Amino acid sequence: MPLVTTKDMFEKSMKKHFAIGAFNVNNMELIQGIVDAAAEENSPVILQASSSAIKYARIGYLKKMVEASLDEHDIPVALHLDHGPDFETCKMCIDNGFSSVMIDGSKYDFEENIDLTKKVVEYAHSKGVVVEAELGKLAGIEDEVNVESSDAMYTDPEQAKEFVERTGCDSLAIAIGTSHGAYKFKGDAKLRFDILQKVKEKLPNTPIVLHGASTVIPELVDMCNKYGGEIPGAKGVPDEMLYEASISGVSKINVDTDLRLAMTGAIRKIFVEDPSAFDPRKYLTPARDLIKQTVQHKIRDVFGSSNQI
Ligand code: G3H
Ligand code: 13P
Ligand code: ZN
Repeated sequence: MPLVTTKDMFEKSMKKHFAIGAFNVNNMELIQGIVDAAAEENSPVILQASSSAIKYARIGYLKKMVEASLDEHDIPVALHLDHGPDFETCKMCIDNGFSSVMIDGSKYDFEENIDLTKKVVEYAHSKGVVVEAELGKLAGIEDEVNVESSDAMYTDPEQAKEFVERTGCDSLAIAIGTSHGAYKFKGDAKLRFDILQKVKEKLPNTPIVLHGASTVIPELVDMCNKYGGEIPGAKGVPDEMLYEASISGVSKINVDTDLRLAMTGAIRKIFVEDPSAFDPRKYLTPARDLIKQTVQHKIRDVFGSSNQI
């Protein structure tokens, strides 16, 4: 099956109340682990690359490796630019065959974000590519106090409606309390499902995206730490909350950190257990296997996208 946009998969997700996993990639083992897992679950999947991932892997390699995975499996796969920082990066990805791009104008004020997003939407749509935009700011753990004390960082549902109407974006990333990385919450995990609900009331037909949605799976953190890592006190979004998000109107759930932990944990384990190992296949095979297992769990047990192609 050729690369697809997210249009059909999002329509199905909104109608049947499940979410599609969007997994960050920057090498062959990640692409294979993710697509093999999605294929086994008979699930649509989104592979996404940030601009720094594209710099690392190089766009031609990424595109061709994703194409190779499409030759092996018959499931809908979208290739998406994650956190596009400017028009030029979005254009580069569109011109290189990505089927979806994100323009992240959340660092700008409302009007500037609208202008930039509109410009990307116009170009992308003329090439048959869909656009994700972002409104509201995701916090880092260091910003958590600000988030707790002020609603300014969360997405305003009324503004979200105006933003989507004025930009024509195809999906919208909103801020409801998640953040990127392995340190999402100091105390208990808390997401503003009330904001999600209000956004869905205003925008019932717009697919909603949740960034910063790794669980920071405790077993994977333990594995990293047991074999020499130092990632103390890491905390993510519990599976139960992600499940609730999936059935409450979130169509795309972004995961990067959990895959980084899986890959690192598996490699650290081999290095400690077999210090004589120096064939990369010896440690990258278990890494790819653990990525696959992690993705399969999310698709099947949390996001609910198995058999939804
Ligand atoms: O949201 C950010 C993603 O985790 C990508 O991170 O820019 O380090 O590739 P990166
Ligand atoms: P995590 O850091 O929680 O995996 O979030 C990834 C993400 O939002 C990519 O855009
Ligand atoms: Zn993100």
